Amino acid sequence: MAEDKRFTFEDYEEIRNFLQGKTKCRPKILIICGSGLGGLADRLEDSYKIVYEDIPKFPVSTVKGHVGQLVFGKLGDKEVVCMQGRFHLYEGYPAWKVAIPIRVMSLMGVKTVIVTNAAGGINRSYNVGDFMMIKDHINMMGMTGGNPLMGPNDERFGPRFPPMSKAYDRTMREQASDIAKELGLGRLIRDGVYCSLSGPSFETPAELRFLQTIGADAVGMSTCPEVVVAKHCGLRVFGMSLITNKCILDYDNDEEANHEEVLETGRQRASDMQNLIARLVERMSNSEKINNGNGVI
Ligand code: HPA
Repeated sequence: MAEDKRFTFEDYEEIRNFLQGKTKCRPKILIICGSGLGGLADRLEDSYKIVYEDIPKFPVSTVKGHVGQLVFGKLGDKEVVCMQGRFHLYEGYPAWKVAIPIRVMSLMGVKTVIVTNAAGGINRSYNVGDFMMIKDHINMMGMTGGNPLMGPNDERFGPRFPPMSKAYDRTMREQASDIAKELGLGRLIRDGVYCSLSGPSFETPAELRFLQTIGADAVGMSTCPEVVVAKHCGLRVFGMSLITNKCILDYDNDEEANHEEVLETGRQRASDMQNLIARLVERMSNSEKINNGNGVI
């Protein structure tokens, strides 16, 4: 894989300046929409959309089902920016490039990242259509030489050795579970460990058994690089996986994982997921005002 020249702080600033010249929106919340879940961005009001191709130095997304644009706008009373379509290692991007939007948005003033993804259920109690609140992750490609923070560290973004022990915000997870219950979705909620692999091939039964053994509840091909970079920048992270398929761990099963099934489950659960995230965003602003009195999120 070609490892392009890494961006300098000034490269990220250039992209930030470009976007700030295009929109007056100054969101504090970034929402990364996973496979088939981009519909949330269509619900934004007073929106400004810009396709990745039109943003200087930005990567472009190449996956079917991922539109490939930033959508700035209002969700309820909060300004947010949605990534409709994200970048993956399997597209050929190194991990740091996958996470470019995180640094740009951090420079733009974002403080919280809500990340969604489609994932295969490894945990045998999970069903297709469940929502897994991510409580922790196993960054498999990061552990094997694909960490997005490898290379020279720029302290203006964050420390050389950032901790990851509290990567996923517990308060937001609890709020999301409460909201799911209010929406009548409580039976779908799980709390689990997300493991990311580079893909694009789905896993063999032996690989899935290995992942089960090491504590993974769900597996996917995204999220960890973005979350590592977000934590490095000091951002708060909430992550949620939509379980789009049951992983096949036994050799007697004739079924096979496929991308169409992933997209179809996304379509079926899209509005539930959007309602949940929309209410979470609404709740965040309220609780933050109560917590620290200055409304900063
Ligand atoms: N494996 C990896 N990535 C995925 C899966 C899966 O089963 N389902 C959705 N994304």
